[in-house]
Amino acid sequence: MIRIAAVGDVHAGRDTAGLLRPHLEDLPDEADVFLIAGDLTKTGEPEEAAVLAGELDGLELPIVAVLGNHDHQSDRGEGVREVLADIGVHVLEGESTTIEVGGTRVGIVGAKGFGGGFEGACATEFGEAEMKAFIRHTQGIARSLERELERLQSELRIVLLHYAPVRETLLGEHPEIYPFLGSYLLGEACDRHGADLILHGHAHHGTEKGLTPGGIGVRNVAQPVLRKPYAVYAFEDRQQAPLEPRRAERTPSDADTEIGRHERGSARTAAAR
Ligand SMILES: [Fe+2]
Ligand SMILES: [Fe+2]
Repeated sequence: MIRIAAVGDVHAGRDTAGLLRPHLEDLPDEADVFLIAGDLTKTGEPEEAAVLAGELDGLELPIVAVLGNHDHQSDRGEGVREVLADIGVHVLEGESTTIEVGGTRVGIVGAKGFGGGFEGACATEFGEAEMKAFIRHTQGIARSLERELERLQSELRIVLLHYAPVRETLLGEHPEIYPFLGSYLLGEACDRHGADLILHGHAHHGTEKGLTPGGIGVRNVAQPVLRKPYAVYAFEDRQQAPLEPRRAERTPSDADTEIGRHERGSARTAAAR
């Protein structure tokens, strides 16, 4: 069994020191890897990242994270990344990493993502320079997801984002702000090359469970949505085998059943926000 623990939007700050760690003490026994889906800090100050690093330091399991929009607020995203890298957190931006769990390779592709909206109500690369820059940023990130998914050689394929790849996990948010919460281009990139699970945060008032048009399970793990320190998604062990880059081949029912059957979460309630 491979157990993926995940949470997003922990929004660490100087006033949150010591709040999260008590809820993470059992994490290494409950999961094989811990993924953090962005908005690690309140305003993107490296000093805030140091608070989070203090909470995570010494946990005996691999930790992988992406940055969120809050982590760019002070234009010091690289500093946030460095503080976390110093304690061994893999912070991915259009990159991937592979972790071996009991003989199964778990590949994680990570990127912040960005907005633009969803089918039938999305921004297009047209008009003012600012509008074109907005959508080109999303297109560039979607291309990085495609590139990394195409390269990835692992039995289990996880995509870690901050922004949402589908509309479904935004339910509960004002529809007017959907274009600022995610983009269908992110989901399309994953569908094109195949993944077993996509995790994201950012939509604090959204819904946990969704599915891409190609049938990949999507989970909004924003802490206010989970209402607990993290969720754990479990998969059966998979045999290592020479792999070809995959196209989307899973049916909606396959993906949803697999995640749903093994899913479980920590029973405790989040106190860190
Ligand atoms: Fe957030
Ligand atoms: Fe966010």
